Amino acid sequence: MTDQAPTPYAGPERVLSGVQPTGDLHLGNYLGALVKFSRLQHEIPTFIFVADMHAITAWQEPAKLKQQVREIAAAYLATGLDPKVATIFAQSAVPEHAELAWVFNCVARLGWLDRMTQFKDKAGKHKERESVGLYTYPVLQAADILAYKATKVPVGDDQKQHLELTRDIAQKFNNDFSAPGFFPLPEPLTQGPGARVMSLRDGTAKMSKSDPSDNSRINLTDDADAIAQKVRKARTDADPLPETVAGLEGRAEAKNLVAIYAALSGKPEADVLTEYAGQGFGAFKPRLADLAVSVMGPIGGEMRRLLADPGEIDRVLTDGAVRARELAAPTVAEVKKLVGFWAG
Ligand code: TYM
Repeated sequence: MTDQAPTPYAGPERVLSGVQPTGDLHLGNYLGALVKFSRLQHEIPTFIFVADMHAITAWQEPAKLKQQVREIAAAYLATGLDPKVATIFAQSAVPEHAELAWVFNCVARLGWLDRMTQFKDKAGKHKERESVGLYTYPVLQAADILAYKATKVPVGDDQKQHLELTRDIAQKFNNDFSAPGFFPLPEPLTQGPGARVMSLRDGTAKMSKSDPSDNSRINLTDDADAIAQKVRKARTDADPLPETVAGLEGRAEAKNLVAIYAALSGKPEADVLTEYAGQGFGAFKPRLADLAVSVMGPIGGEMRRLLADPGEIDRVLTDGAVRARELAAPTVAEVKKLVGFWAG
């Protein structure tokens, strides 16, 4: 083996990302992911899906799963994804994801998966009771991305490790099957103050769908009163806001609220501090609440409107699956040839 740099990928740029239909979407999902989807769709061909196959790595009530998929699709539309511009679909409607995931299961190494912190966090002390699917979850994620040869993946900070694994799988596939540059090495897009939104009750824990306290997060479907109340109750400290971002060090809750304000207003954190330096949370929180209500309120309203008559959502998902398959099928057919499958 020579130590040459890998052949670079020469294909077009593509954006792909997805969200699991496993509970109410919150401000973290919005700032870490959704807000970027609608921005990117106008720059690069964009593929956004609902990860219902990932959802069943933990038990989901079958009678509810389709509705949960519709809710995520409604959130996509309500936050500005345009189905005429972006391709929006459900993962399970494109069988190429599962087909490619199997090949990748045979490319990825156990040692790579053993390092995945999200599995360790989710499985806790009882990993032997978890589904095998939860363990190989990041392999399916690599297939989601590479079936479309996506080059950019807008996600929150917590997905960075899964993107590293995706790159490792792409690189090893290209090497193992003598296909230099076949798959790109996709990049996570995690920039910005919304990359890791923390709980409103504990500035050291990530805002999460699975936190038992509803006051820890602002849900996309919360009404104005609920949003304002959650901001008012958010944990803070007694000190006034500092003049510089460095002054927020060691003040996890204050740092989080300033980051949320910055992300929602589109201003750098430094500018937010210039505006509020010296003021206490008694003054800052009502301004943050107004901002959150003005951005999030209309999203919840639009989601409720779309979900009241799901025909439009279903049409978007049906059409999106056809378009997604048109792109994924030839790539997976090529993979089968490269691997030497009978059906290749
Ligand atoms: P999921 O459904 O857990 O989360 C969806 C997106 O929201 C981001 N996110 C956050 N961002 C900032 N602060 C937070 N507190 C926060 N919580 C969640 C996540 O980083 C994610 O971008 N594995 C993915 C779904 C997936 C996927 C993919 C993503 C499956 N296949 C292929 C990209 C490409 C997940 O669990 O997302």
